[in-house]
Amino acid sequence: MGKFITLDLEPKKRKYNTMKDITFSGCDFERPILTEIKPYIPGKPISEVAREHGVVDIIKLASNENPLGPSPKALEAVKKALNNAHLYPDGAGFALRRKLSLFHDYISEGIVLGNGSVELVEIICEAFLEPGCEAITGPQAFFKYRIACQIMGVKPVMVPMPDYNYDIDAMLKAFSDRTRLVFIANPNNPTGTYLGRGEIDRILDSLPSQAILVLDEAYSEFVKESDYPNGLDYVRQGQRVIVLRTFSKAYGLAGLRCGYAMTTPDIVASLQKVREVFNCNSLAQAAGEAALDDKEFLASTISMNETGLAVLRTGLTERGLKVVPSVCNFVLVDLNRPIGPIFTELLKQGVIIRPMEPYDLPTCARISVGSPEGHERLFSALDLVL
Ligand SMILES: Cc1ncc(COP(=O)(O)O)c(C=O)c1O
Repeated sequence: MGKFITLDLEPKKRKYNTMKDITFSGCDFERPILTEIKPYIPGKPISEVAREHGVVDIIKLASNENPLGPSPKALEAVKKALNNAHLYPDGAGFALRRKLSLFHDYISEGIVLGNGSVELVEIICEAFLEPGCEAITGPQAFFKYRIACQIMGVKPVMVPMPDYNYDIDAMLKAFSDRTRLVFIANPNNPTGTYLGRGEIDRILDSLPSQAILVLDEAYSEFVKESDYPNGLDYVRQGQRVIVLRTFSKAYGLAGLRCGYAMTTPDIVASLQKVREVFNCNSLAQAAGEAALDDKEFLASTISMNETGLAVLRTGLTERGLKVVPSVCNFVLVDLNRPIGPIFTELLKQGVIIRPMEPYDLPTCARISVGSPEGHERLFSALDLVL
């Protein structure tokens, strides 16, 4: 019989328990550009809500995670890969890149893995931005873009997004010979809207010669619209485009952190110079490979999402709320009153949504498609709170 050691973390028994227990002199010499950065606020974790509000049985509809859980094939692969957890991962990610290359019909030399696609946003900025350059994004585009630019000492050019989508005319006007990166999430988080082929074509036709278009397709698997372009087509034509994809959403592997970029080999060469060599861990690589084979899981996810999206849209609209049409696994909803207090009241009911103040949408929330039970919990909590 093994011996069990109980970790005693009772505060009174520790010497260093709160911030008051350490003395520090203050660090007032951070890079000035960092003072402008508003840190990214992720969806509130379930454990945090349990700790803070003393609630159990919490429904999280805040981070566009997959309500079906992880791909079962990926889970099996992770269990096997655990046996080699003592070894460093393949820094080149050969097997997963090869599999992606076959899956997408694109050269593996044009694929770079990331610790989630969000890390690739940082890698791209590190490779192509320096003070004096410009990068284009928008106030309702994925928040991480602006932070990654700011870290590189570049103030992002925020092109307004009327009607919850990118404004191509305004974007073209913002192009200059200093533009290096243009960030477009297609479809866009948090609005759930998308740009059609003609609109992306227009951007590429006017893209300055020293700029790259980053097409972040984190939610592409959910999109059914016939004019939705596959960004890889542009890459295959040799255009200056980086397509980002992730295993976090449709494949249900957000916790493992696995994303990838597909682009031309010259751009890959630049990205490789700044990429940390073991940035995609061995469990994530194994899971990614297996997930690509899990066609059944992907199909169930997409069909569940279609149903769930309709339930969410109908339920919210019936409650008099304005819902932005979405092609993703979430909706943006305008509650027409400050979102902060509603968010807190919903937390007390054990329902986590995502308030949209950081996106200059102080009366809006983003709500992920959940399980049928999750939707019911959301609606009854909303009925209590509103
Ligand atoms: C548009 C967009 N890009 C990238 C990401 C990050 O994905 P990953 O988990 O691969 O880092 C998200 C996550 O919410 C997203 O909405």
